[in-house]
Amino acid sequence: MSTNRTFTMIKPDAVANGHIGAIINDITAAGFKIIALKYTKLTEETAGKFYEVHKGRPFYTDLVTFMSSGPIVAAILEKDNAIEDFRKLIGATNPADAAEGTIRNKYANSIEANAVHGSDSDENAAIEGDFFFTAAERF
Ligand code: CMP
Repeated sequence: MSTNRTFTMIKPDAVANGHIGAIINDITAAGFKIIALKYTKLTEETAGKFYEVHKGRPFYTDLVTFMSSGPIVAAILEKDNAIEDFRKLIGATNPADAAEGTIRNKYANSIEANAVHGSDSDENAAIEGDFFFTAAERF
């Protein structure tokens, strides 16, 4: 069953390049409601845990180093058909393949430093949201 919620992170590259405001504007202009929002920084340990599903893949170690290299913005978002619509809004994982006008097309540098994360399923959106937010931090 769809929860109409997804989870996102604005990654260290997009934060460092000054794109927090523009990305949040794109997200809300596309009709997503912000349920929870946090400016924080992952450690190597918490980044490793967040991306545990990719452990063993060739990009895992670099990804963990990159994701703990600077602050990030985490958010839970709500909209009808949230998972699919958000993935359309951000574009393909590799910004070189991301459609014109998508967030990764506009703000990402590489397949690793790809500006934003978006959950790939309702189940993972719930797990990822719980990773960052308590019930009292959701509105
Ligand atoms: P994200 O959507 O956060 O999920 C996994 C992340 O791994 C992905 O975005 C990229 O930042 C990173 N990554 C680096 N290399 C690859 C790759 N070859 N394939 C998929 N993801 C990659």
